[in-house]
Amino acid sequence: MASAVTIDGKAFAAGLRERVAKEVTKLKAEQGLTPGLAVVLVGEDPASQVYVRSKGKQTVETGMNSFEHKMDASVSQEELLAKVEELNADPAVHGILVQLPLPSHMDDLAVIDAIDPAKDVDGFHAINAGRLMTGGKGAAAPMVPCTPLGCLLLLRDHLGSLSGLTAVVVGRSNIVGKPMGQLLLQESCTVTTAHSRTKDLPAVCREADILVAAVGRPEMIRGDWIKPGATVIDVGINRIEGEAGGKARLVGDVATAEARKVAGAITPVPGGVGPMTIACLLANTVTAACRQAGIEAPDF
Ligand SMILES: NC(=O)c1ccc[n+]([C@@H]2O[C@H](COP(=O)([O-])OP(=O)(O)OC[C@H]3O[C@@H](n4cnc5c(N)ncnc54)[C@H](OP(=O)(O)O)[C@@H]3O)[C@@H](O)[C@H]2O)c1
Repeated sequence: MASAVTIDGKAFAAGLRERVAKEVTKLKAEQGLTPGLAVVLVGEDPASQVYVRSKGKQTVETGMNSFEHKMDASVSQEELLAKVEELNADPAVHGILVQLPLPSHMDDLAVIDAIDPAKDVDGFHAINAGRLMTGGKGAAAPMVPCTPLGCLLLLRDHLGSLSGLTAVVVGRSNIVGKPMGQLLLQESCTVTTAHSRTKDLPAVCREADILVAAVGRPEMIRGDWIKPGATVIDVGINRIEGEAGGKARLVGDVATAEARKVAGAITPVPGGVGPMTIACLLANTVTAACRQAGIEAPDF
């Protein structure tokens, strides 16, 4: 039986980090510029702590400055906004990331919109979302959200031109589904964004040359929802507890074993989209530093 090609996000991300590190070395030597990324973590959410540690480690490994700011879960929104203002004004900080989710007494969107759009390396600020939608170039180019950017880099690497392909994105969150749809539209795909109210989702998915799953439901997308030969990008990261004290494991939003028999190519979970997110954050930090210094940003 045919088996899909594995799109190796882990290897691609390692290559991207190398390219980032080379650009950082060049910026230091030729411009005296060391890009800096500040990450703000509010509270003690264990998963967020792991992400923040990993981001800090990889930032330093690529030669950039990493600034970590931990704040107590009880901090007020005003105190967090004051921290964001301080980082907006700091010339050593080129990228600012406020780790989500924030404690429930805070308004995520208000905090994100307080970040200087030029330093918004997550690409979640309304200005960057708008620029992504309007296709801004040059000085008006958006910072692109890291996870969909990672998916796009994998798709371009695997398929070359995406022009004219039918793409279905399952999920419409501000951080993955919506920006993914915009990026695919910019690549001249014909895009459908599906969600929990979509009628006959399997039939919609079966139309897709490119199927992106960003749902958060373990193995929801079955093999017979996939068009033969399609390229499948599985963004989902779902933790399944082991039975009877067995080890927990991660699964995606796609039933991989079934999907492999039908798809042309697929990203694994783990080792697909996951490693691309932080690698794209590092790339975005270099891009932000270059734009702030008036230097042409490298094309990653
Ligand atoms: N690889 C990475 O680095 C990375 C980064 C971010 C997220 N993720 C993972 O990606 C997944 C999605 O994340 P997210 O933040 O976008 O999630 P989210 O904000 O919870 O959004 C989930 C989306 O899926 C849709 N949905 C839920 N149930 C559905 C169903 N039965 N049929 C069709 N659509 C359905 C929702 O539709 P409605 O809008 O109608 O409710 C919503 O638009 C999660 O597993 C997350 O862990 C991975």
